[in-house]
Amino acid sequence: MIDLNLLDVRSSMGRRLGQPLYKAVGIRKGDSYRPRVIDGTAGYGEDAYLLAAVGCDVLALERCVAVHAMLEKAVQNARPTAGGLVVTCADLLTYACDEADRPDVVYLDPMYPAGRKTAERKAMKMLRELVGDDTDQAGLLAAGLRLARRRVVVKRPKRAGALNGIEPVSSHGERATRYDVYVPGVTRLV
Ligand SMILES: C[S@@+](CC[C@H](N)C(=O)[O-])C[C@H]1O[C@@H](n2cnc3c(N)ncnc32)[C@H](O)[C@@H]1O
Repeated sequence: MIDLNLLDVRSSMGRRLGQPLYKAVGIRKGDSYRPRVIDGTAGYGEDAYLLAAVGCDVLALERCVAVHAMLEKAVQNARPTAGGLVVTCADLLTYACDEADRPDVVYLDPMYPAGRKTAERKAMKMLRELVGDDTDQAGLLAAGLRLARRRVVVKRPKRAGALNGIEPVSSHGERATRYDVYVPGVTRLV
């Protein structure tokens, strides 16, 4: 059971526009620009919900049928705060859309490398049991760069290397997490 209403999207702390997630997708304080986002690895939908809560239109893709069903219910319960959030059961690796529907940003948060599992929060352990380790995550960056008009953002554990070892154009860090930014036409996949 996912409850998006537990996320803090109302207080000034919860939706600080200066926080790294928002900076990474291109949101600036005092600027009304909000990117259209495809969250290619929706999971529990928390990041998608945080983006929708500040006015982004977000299409969240989740390929695991069971997780998608939970998320769909959670988004229905969370409306209207998540008004711009739509979820669909699809795999980003094979996802295609019309030119006019291409998002500004593709956001990626594949399962972190399984390490000290005891340190993982209970909800994430349950997710790993359902979906595994996303062993095909090497293909996500190429899929994101193919779809995004402006940037691809990859959420990583602070001390982990970049996805596929490809250096991002910029990074926005938090204590335990950072957001690596890749730019179509600038980022080269080697
Ligand atoms: C770490 S979770 C994402 C957590 C999410 N950012 C949140 O805030 O709740 C990764 C999720 O991405 C999904 N996923 C991984 N690869 C995918 C793909 N190619 N297409 C769609 N979903 C994918 C997995 O099934 C898993 O549910």
